[in-house]
Amino acid sequence: MDKLKITGGFPLHGEVEISGAKNAALPILIASILSSDQVDISNVPKLKDIDTTIRLLEFLGVSIDHSDGNVSLIANNISKTEAPYDLVKTMRASILVLGPLLSRFGRAHVSLPGGCSIGARPVDLHIQALEKMGANISIHNGYIDASTEHLSNKKLIGTKIFMDQVSVTGTENIMMAATLADGKTFIENAAREPEVEDLGNLLISMGAKIKGLGTDVIEIEGVAALNGSQYKVMFDRIEAGTYMAAAVVSGGEVKLKNVDPRKMESVIEKIKQTGADVIETSTGITIKKQHQPIKPVNIRTGVYPLFPTDMQAQFMAINVLADGPSEITETIFENRFMHVQELVRMGASIDVKGNTSFVKGVQAIDGANVMATDLRASASLVIAGLAAKGETIIERIYHLDRGYERIEEKLNKLGAKVERLN
Ligand code: UD1
Repeated sequence: MDKLKITGGFPLHGEVEISGAKNAALPILIASILSSDQVDISNVPKLKDIDTTIRLLEFLGVSIDHSDGNVSLIANNISKTEAPYDLVKTMRASILVLGPLLSRFGRAHVSLPGGCSIGARPVDLHIQALEKMGANISIHNGYIDASTEHLSNKKLIGTKIFMDQVSVTGTENIMMAATLADGKTFIENAAREPEVEDLGNLLISMGAKIKGLGTDVIEIEGVAALNGSQYKVMFDRIEAGTYMAAAVVSGGEVKLKNVDPRKMESVIEKIKQTGADVIETSTGITIKKQHQPIKPVNIRTGVYPLFPTDMQAQFMAINVLADGPSEITETIFENRFMHVQELVRMGASIDVKGNTSFVKGVQAIDGANVMATDLRASASLVIAGLAAKGETIIERIYHLDRGYERIEEKLNKLGAKVERLN
C-alpha cells in the first residue's frame, strides 16, 4: 500500500492548477445513463473514484472512451441494470445510478453503498423520494430493488418532494430521475451546492427542463428523452480550499488557477480570518501568508453556502498551529473527527466533546507516523505534515487518491517535499 513521506518546513510558492470537481464529475458521468446519445465530458479529474465510476458504467454496458480528462460515453446498449457490491463498496456516490437506471429502464438493483467511514450516512431520503414518484422499492440482502414496471409506460410520476434533510446526492438522484418522469417534480429543501447546479446545467444541455438550480426549490418537467451533449466539469472547490489551507500553515504565496472565488466565499472568508491575504480575480485566487502567527478561527459546518464539512478537517490542521484557542463544530456528519487522534500524535492539543472539537493551538508540531482514515482527514494530515518539524509518514493514502489528483506532484511544484513510497 502506498504511503506519503512529507518533510515539513518548506514555504509554498508558485501556481497550482485546480482540477475538475470530483463531486460534480461523478454525477455528471453517471447522467450519461439517461440518454442513448453520446455525451462528451471534459475537465474530468484523474482519481480513484472516477475510475470506479467508469468501471461501474462499463459494467452496465455504457461504451466509454477516456483520455486526459476527456470522457466520451454512449449508453445506447445498456445490458444490465445492476450495480453490484464489489463495484460500489468503495464509493458511496454509486447510489447515483439508482435514479437514472430506474427512470430510463424501469428497473434498478443497486447495492447499498460504502464509501468514507464518517457516520451512518443512510440513503433513506433517496428511496422515499423515488417511492413518492411511484416506484416499488424493497431492500434485501444488502441491495435496493426498485421497479416502475407497474406504472403506465413504466414511467416515474412527477410530484412534490420535501427533503427532510438537505442531501447533495439525494437531490442529484431525484433530479436525474425526474428528467424522464411523467409531469413536474418539485424538490423542496433541495441542496444548493455548486456541484448540484453543475449537474443540473449538464442535464439542461441534454434537453432536460429544469428551473431553480442554486435555490432550495428545484422544478423539473419530465421530457420523453434526453439527447447527447458536450460539457465541462466545474473546478473542485474542496481541492482549492485544501491548497489554501496548505499555504496558510506553510507560509509563502500561492496562486490557484481555474477557480471561481464566488463559489467558495465561506472558505475564503475563514482563510482571511487566519491572517492571510487573499486576492480574488474572476479566474483565480492568490493567497499570501507572511511570517506573523496564524489567527485561530471558529468553524461551524453547514449546507451550502455555509462552511463545507469537506473542509473541516483541513481547518483543524490550521487551528492546531494557531496563536490561541478555537472551536470546530461538525453539524453534517457524526463521527467526522477521526483526524483528531492522528493530529494529537503529532503534538496537537485537541479535546472532542460531542460534535465540537476544542483546539488549543501550539507553537509547533512534530512529524510522526500517522494513518489516513478518510478522504478529507487524510488531507488534514498532509497539511499538518507540511508544517511539522521533521518527517511525517502517512499510511493508507488510498483515501487521498480517491479525491486529490496528483497531490504530491502539485505540492512539490510549489516547493514542498513530498514523496510517494510504494
Ligand atoms: C455529498 C458529498 C460529500 C459531502 C456531503 C455533504 C458527493 C459525492 N459527496 O455526500 O463529499 O461531504 O455531500 O456536503 O457529492 N442523509 C440521510 N439520509 C439520506 C441522505 C443523507 O439521513 O438519504 C444525511 C447524511 O447522513 C448526512 C446529511 O444527510 O448527515 C447530508 O448528507 P448528503 O448531503 O446526502 O451527503 P452525500 O450526498 O452522501
